Amino acid sequence: MAKKVHVTTTVNGDEYEFLCHPGQTLVDALRNEMKLTGAKEGCSTGDCGACSVVVDGRLICSCLMLAVEADGKSIDTIEGMAQGDTLHPLQSNFLELNGLQCGICTPGILVAARELLKKNPDPTETEIRFWLAGNLCRCTGYDKIIRSVQAPGCSKINSPGHSLNSRRCSPAVRCSPDAWAWNRIHPQRSSQPRRIPFPRRPGRIPDAR
Ligand code: FES
Ligand code: FES
Repeated sequence: MAKKVHVTTTVNGDEYEFLCHPGQTLVDALRNEMKLTGAKEGCSTGDCGACSVVVDGRLICSCLMLAVEADGKSIDTIEGMAQGDTLHPLQSNFLELNGLQCGICTPGILVAARELLKKNPDPTETEIRFWLAGNLCRCTGYDKIIRSVQAPGCSKINSPGHSLNSRRCSPAVRCSPDAWAWNRIHPQRSSQPRRIPFPRRPGRIPDAR
């Protein structure tokens, strides 16, 4: 049996050292060596996105990367998304808007969506659907996931009287100041998103993004 390899890496700002087999995948090392079980192993073939993490600023499927390749690299996982007890706005939205059911896909979708909003803070529905096409969910039918990504900071999106256009939003709904600010930059959006056909999935190879 091949000797184990010593790996040093940074995950969510904390340094980790572990021993792994040369053929061990990063998702396996995250879950079993570093005990960070947020990333899920769904397909092991780069198709479902449940294992999504960010390595040196690039969104990747951690089932397609060897743990030894993470040596000296910086990794961001779902465990680093909330700041203490304060959820990231995307996480709050997923809770408020029922963007998840069983939650197997959710960590990967949140990690991927955060990367999309870093690159494009004002994505269209089509852009969100295209970006998340490599993240499969068996439960929700995607619409609630898309809505959760569309309105960070706004927890009242489903309330009667709410509109994504702040000028039409009923004062009774009392959106948070963050939500009003968000709505001001998105005056064109309707609270009833149009259904857009799901685009052809581009495939998730590490170099695709
Ligand atoms: S487990 Fe990695 S893409 Fe499905
Ligand atoms: S919530 Fe179950 S797979 Fe997405």
